[in-house]
Amino acid sequence: MDISIRRITNKDRQQWFDMRKGIWPEAPDGYLNFDMDEILESDRDVVFFAYDGERVVGMIEVSLREYAEACETSPVGYIEGWFVYPEFRGSGAAGVLAQTAENWARERGCTEMASDTWLDNEPSIRAHIKLGYVEVERLVHFVKRI
Ligand SMILES: CC(C)(COP(=O)(O)OP(=O)(O)OC[C@H]1O[C@@H](n2cnc3c(N)ncnc32)[C@H](O)[C@@H]1OP(=O)(O)O)[C@@H](O)C(=O)NCCC(=O)NCCS
Repeated sequence: MDISIRRITNKDRQQWFDMRKGIWPEAPDGYLNFDMDEILESDRDVVFFAYDGERVVGMIEVSLREYAEACETSPVGYIEGWFVYPEFRGSGAAGVLAQTAENWARERGCTEMASDTWLDNEPSIRAHIKLGYVEVERLVHFVKRI
């Protein structure tokens, strides 16, 4: 597979939305939508698509965060969302996307990159480890009606 990478523009909104839905299938559309305009306009956020020829195979959302767990520098590059369509997983696209995200953060002065995923998301955990990411913390979320 010959993977190429391109930064998205406003025209890619629908495909971007569809892939966000792939990461967070249970999230309401309004929640998936609410920050899309802001991300497209911001210079602290970027979204890259991976293509096989003309076909979109995946994406990565990256931001600059002032703080991330266990990081010693600020700001750091942060992988906010990472998605490859199931039929293209295991093809190397995820690695090329992550490398592009890291280069983008490095060009903005970052020397650390951080990310997160769910405790039971084994494919994502494995993909991170394979690319040199080290697990630093596990979180538990709570809620209480008040
Ligand atoms: C995370 C994601 C982008 C990685 O893409 P990918 O193409 O699968 O990545 P890779 O092929 O490089 O690595 C995936 C690893 O998980 C492994 N894997 C795949 N399915 C697995 C499973 N069910 N259980 C355990 N490991 C699994 C693969 O074998 C591979 O590891 P290996 O190369 O050491 O064998 C992709 O899985 C995805 O889109 N997932 C859904 C969205 C998501 O969860 N995103 C991350 C949170 S934002």
